[in-house]
Amino acid sequence: MTTDTVAESFTALFGEAANATCFAPGRVNLLGEHIDSHGGHVLPMALPFGISLAAAAIDGDHDRIASAQFDDIAQYRCGAPKTGHWSDYIAGALETARSQGWLAGAAAIYCDSAIPVGAGLSSSAATIIAVLKAFAPDNLAATDLATLAQSVEHDFIGMPCGIMDQMAIAVPAPGEILLLDCRSLEYERLPLPSDWDIAVVHSGQHRALADGRYRQRIEEAGRARQLLGLTWLTDLAREDTLPALQDPVLSRRVRHIASEEARVMQAVEALRNGNATAFGALMQIGHHSMVKDFDASTPEIDRLVADAVEAGAHGARITGAGFGGCIVALLPRGEKGQWWRKVSTIHAKASLLF
Ligand code: GLA
Repeated sequence: MTTDTVAESFTALFGEAANATCFAPGRVNLLGEHIDSHGGHVLPMALPFGISLAAAAIDGDHDRIASAQFDDIAQYRCGAPKTGHWSDYIAGALETARSQGWLAGAAAIYCDSAIPVGAGLSSSAATIIAVLKAFAPDNLAATDLATLAQSVEHDFIGMPCGIMDQMAIAVPAPGEILLLDCRSLEYERLPLPSDWDIAVVHSGQHRALADGRYRQRIEEAGRARQLLGLTWLTDLAREDTLPALQDPVLSRRVRHIASEEARVMQAVEALRNGNATAFGALMQIGHHSMVKDFDASTPEIDRLVADAVEAGAHGARITGAGFGGCIVALLPRGEKGQWWRKVSTIHAKASLLF
């Protein structure tokens, strides 16, 4: 749905017109996985599809939240904690809009999302950002929008996510690559070279970000940081040898984080030089690291990545938090159609999202 049709559905459902409509895209991460919380650099790209939303302030002390994806209308009591309902992300963003003084009382929301949930494409961050944008002042800086959206995840939802998704949604235009320093939040917007193409394929396997494995990786990295006496694990990207840790699991987590940061630095070089072969090779090694060191892939995704490369991609890897969801592949421009015909004959449950 476009923002216009979402506004029409809003009026049909709530019997009054929306005051604001907005759009927030999904994102795909090309490289730099699970390092945003550790002061690393990441290379996400905003997608052309996302969430469209219509909103209005209403009387009373309950928000009314509806979505094209669900049949019920959620009633959320202003000031209450999360309820475990699908509308929690929206309710949390409305709480933040109120605490910022952008919204005086309750609100009605109608949204439509084209971002599959649990696919690694940031449906939750996009939802939160779309709601905040509906009420935020026009001159709010993208970085402030992103950090407020992250605080909804941390404080309302209880998800200790990094800042990559929110920045990737708030800053670049769809199709641009964001080179983001997650430590300083400085960024550069880089164009995709004209002979490169990006494909995003859903494996058909869903995962829930809130299912504990993401949090577990954050905790493991936190323990490693303490043991090593470091503020930022990505500082280890500059070391020739990694410091020894007795726990083999923590050692592997640290190796992923340090090597992934180093790969992003090399990938930026490859991107600036338009060297798709080098960028693709780094994606491949990055995937291997997600499999072997971060334990964040699945056998089905590994087969999809292997077949994506076999079918002609320069490189492919699992994208986002992992544990299922999507892969991202780098292709020579103009070859997506024939590439997908090959991949889809082997992977009947997979779907090409972009
Ligand atoms: C999720 C989180 C991000 C990031 C990625 C993994 O999308 O929200 O902050 O950590 O996983 O790179």
